[in-house]
Amino acid sequence: MPLETTANIWHNGELIPWEKAQIHVMSHVVHYGSSVFEGIRCYAQDNGAGVFRLTEHMQRLIHSAKIYRMPLPYSLEQLNEAVVELIEANGVTPCYIRPIAFRGYGEIGVNPLKSPVEIYIANFPWGKYVSGHNGADVCISSWNRLAPNTMPSLAKAGANYMNSQLIRMEADINGYVEGIALDTNGYLSEGSGENLFLVRDGVLYTTPLANSVLNGITRDSILVLARQLGIPVVEQALPRELLYIADEAFFTGTAAEVTHLRSVDRIVIGDGNMGPVTSALHKAFFDIVSGAAPDKYNWLTPVKVRETVTA
Ligand SMILES: Cc1ncc(COP(=O)(O)O)c(C=O)c1O
Repeated sequence: MPLETTANIWHNGELIPWEKAQIHVMSHVVHYGSSVFEGIRCYAQDNGAGVFRLTEHMQRLIHSAKIYRMPLPYSLEQLNEAVVELIEANGVTPCYIRPIAFRGYGEIGVNPLKSPVEIYIANFPWGKYVSGHNGADVCISSWNRLAPNTMPSLAKAGANYMNSQLIRMEADINGYVEGIALDTNGYLSEGSGENLFLVRDGVLYTTPLANSVLNGITRDSILVLARQLGIPVVEQALPRELLYIADEAFFTGTAAEVTHLRSVDRIVIGDGNMGPVTSALHKAFFDIVSGAAPDKYNWLTPVKVRETVTA
C-alpha cells in the first residue's frame, strides 16, 4: 500500500516537516529491531472527527515500552495531546495514526540501554486493510506465532512483525489475503495483524491472551459490544478445526476493523456470507465510530479538523 504523506510529524515534543523525520542508518533500531509502536484510527463523523480509544492505545504503547525497559519521557496525557495536536495540524481525516518509540543512534551492540529513546507520531490517510469485498479468503500459516518466553506477544514491538511478515508473505504467495498462525502448541492464535473470532451455535469465541496474541483494542471493543448485545462470549484455547466447522469467523484490528472470513484453507465458513452475529457486531462497531450511535463508552477523542481528505 503506497504511503500518503502529510505535512507534519510529531517528534520528541515538536512538529517537524514530514521529510525531516529521518534517522541514522547506525541507529540501534535498524540493526536490532528495538521499537514499539501503535496503530490508531481517527474516524470522521458528521460534526468532526474522533480518535478511537486513544488512551488505551497510548497505554499499550507505554506498556510495550515498559516490557522492553524503554523509558518514555512523556506521560499518557502528553502523548494523547500530541496525537490531537498532530491531526489538527495536518487536517487529514479519516486517518491512521502511527506512534513509534525506538532506540536511536548511540551505541553499537545488542544492549539497547545506552541508546537514546526517540518518539515520533505520524498520521496519514489509510483505507481498507484486509481485501475481499465479500469476505476474506485466508489460510492457516505454516509459521507459528511467537512462542511464550521468546518474544512477548503483549508488547507491540517492531521485531514481532518479522514473524507477521513471514505469515503475510506466505499467504500472499499462495493466493490468500491473510494467514492465521497457530501458537507453538498448535492452537489458533491470530492473523499477522489481527485478532481472531469465531461463532458456533450462537456463542462467540476468541483466543485468550495466553495463546500468543496481541491484546487487541478492537478485540476488547468487540467483547464489550457482544456483552452489550447479550451474545455469550468464551475466551478459550481453540483447535484449528473448530474454525473450519464454525458458523461464522472474523478478524478484528485497527487496520482490519471487523472483516468477516469467507473461507479458511479453501473451506467455506458457514455459507460464506457475513453471518448474523458478525453483522450485529460489525454494525454496533461502525455505528459508534461513525457517530450514528451514541459513544456510550467514551471511546472517541474529538479532534477539530480544518479540512477533510477521504482515504
Ligand atoms: C499481531 C496483531 N494482532 C492483533 C492486532 C489487533 O489489535 P488492535 O485491535 O489493537 O489494532 C494487531 C494490530 O495492531 C496486530 O498487529
